[in-house]
Amino acid sequence: MQMESISNSMFSYVLISFLLIRSCNGTDRISQNQTMADGETLVSSGGTFVLGFFKPPSSTNRYLGIWYNRSPETIVWVANKVSPLTDSDGVLTIHGDGNLVLLNGTKRIIWSSNSSSADAPMNLVAELLDSGNLVLKRQDGFKAESYVWQSFDFTTDTLLPGMKEGKNLQTGQTWYLTSWKNQNDPSPGEFSYKLDTIGLPQFVLRKGSEKKFRTGPWNGERFSGSPVRSSSFIAPIFVYNDTEIYYTYEMTDSSVLSRVTLDESGVIEHYMMNKGSSDWILIYRLPYDMCEEYGKCGPNGICRINSNPICQCLDGFVPKSKGDWDVLIWSGGCKRRTPLDCKSGDGFIKLKNVKLPDLLDFRLSQSMTTRECERECLKDCSCIAFTDSNITNGGSGCLMWFRDLIDIQEYDDKYSEQDIYLRMPKSELDAIENQNKKRALLILVIPTVFGGILVLCFVLCCMIRRRKEKRGMAVVD
Ligand SMILES: *[C@@H]1O[C@H](CO)[C@@H](O)[C@H](O)[C@H]1NC(C)=O
Ligand SMILES: *[C@@H]1O[C@H](CO)[C@@H](O)[C@H](O)[C@H]1NC(C)=O
Ligand SMILES: *[C@@H]1O[C@H](CO)[C@@H](O)[C@H](O)[C@H]1NC(C)=O
Ligand SMILES: *[C@@H]1O[C@H](CO)[C@@H](O)[C@H](O)[C@H]1NC(C)=O
Ligand SMILES: *[C@@H]1O[C@H](CO)[C@@H](O)[C@H](O)[C@H]1NC(C)=O
Repeated sequence: MQMESISNSMFSYVLISFLLIRSCNGTDRISQNQTMADGETLVSSGGTFVLGFFKPPSSTNRYLGIWYNRSPETIVWVANKVSPLTDSDGVLTIHGDGNLVLLNGTKRIIWSSNSSSADAPMNLVAELLDSGNLVLKRQDGFKAESYVWQSFDFTTDTLLPGMKEGKNLQTGQTWYLTSWKNQNDPSPGEFSYKLDTIGLPQFVLRKGSEKKFRTGPWNGERFSGSPVRSSSFIAPIFVYNDTEIYYTYEMTDSSVLSRVTLDESGVIEHYMMNKGSSDWILIYRLPYDMCEEYGKCGPNGICRINSNPICQCLDGFVPKSKGDWDVLIWSGGCKRRTPLDCKSGDGFIKLKNVKLPDLLDFRLSQSMTTRECERECLKDCSCIAFTDSNITNGGSGCLMWFRDLIDIQEYDDKYSEQDIYLRMPKSELDAIENQNKKRALLILVIPTVFGGILVLCFVLCCMIRRRKEKRGMAVVD
């Protein structure tokens, strides 16, 4: 009798283990008419990612999401962000209409892939790829073009290698990061990190509609103010043509995991995890210093992180309110010391190694040369600065700014080298030239004085020697 119950429990133990192993090793797909219930998971073929139901730490709601096998608490994607399940009766399946759907306990659709290209019965399968992309496709399809729907098109707060951030100019579809409301609620929070595509593309971090940080515009090689040093593991890709503008990146070593996240407080972080490890390493964090804060020094101010104070007025400009400026309130910015003449004599001074000002009031002409750009800017009295729109191959194209310059930063290192030409009236140019002359003169004067002392010494020495010689001669004589 006892024997029997032992063998019975042995049997159930083996059966349960078998079922557990089956669901652990899991499959990476479900086909039409199959379901995945809460407690079950899909595991990508290489074992990197898991699709399943989860519950945020201090919430009773349940969500369908994707996480890392090696880091289950790191959720990279959520399906039903705004329509949580309140119990464990959720089920994922492929609906008769050809959509991937999430049903609640009473079989109501609470989330759908809503794919417009899905048309009814066509042998669909949902597969979790090893990139972390959940795709809905025809059973026989394997190319990206055959995807009826993919989770990579519906970015949440995490950018994974191969995921796009940007815009499809033909369909109008945009890909961007949105923060979670908080750690227990994946519904959209206040922050977004989006590629602005007006003029030259640049990434902008916003809180609601307020700009908090930007990368500076794409200059043909990189974002002009991108402090992000490339890592040997990361291969950034920027596509900018008539159909699409987007940024993505790939890992040169696929065993290294990598993700970029936008957290609920508006901080962007890039993490990596090495093979065999289960710890995330922080690669960079944005915004990473005070100069990165959007418009820190106000209009026509420039931020230099190694200066004290960090905000200064551009050459030829003075604080709008000296009182504010003295107590380090910089938001009012700076105004010209001398107005532009606009008729004749205006010229430009070069500002080196800067994050290009924001594209608020600007004109872009990619076919102009730098010389044409300068002439064009001089023609228009409200044009106050210009630069090459594309720095590759010695520079080409024309980007002009009008009225005020907002959010300029100067960098110390050559890495961020991008110059801008700032318009100045003749009197300022003369003043700057005089200043430079004085500086040059000072450099001249110092050796002259020093040289003079040498000459004097020489003369004195000679005179003393002569005297000695004379005396000597006298002695000999
Ligand atoms: C799904 O089930 C329905 C009804 O049971 C059946 O008619 C259909 O052929 C099935 N589809 C697949 C892809 O198995
Ligand atoms: C399922 O969703 C429907 C519609 O939102 C709702 O009325 C119903 O109460 C839900 N059932 C459960 C078990 O949550
Ligand atoms: C799907 O479409 C319905 C109706 O248009 C909409 O209410 C729902 O929010 C959409 N779901 C998703 C996940 O986009
Ligand atoms: C920048 O210039 C290079 C070389 O002249 C060209 O190949 C590239 O397409 C240009 N990039 C943009 C964004 O115009
Ligand atoms: C734009 O770039 C994408 C990705 O490289 C490519 O698939 C597409 O054909 C390009 N479009 C044009 C008009 O060159």
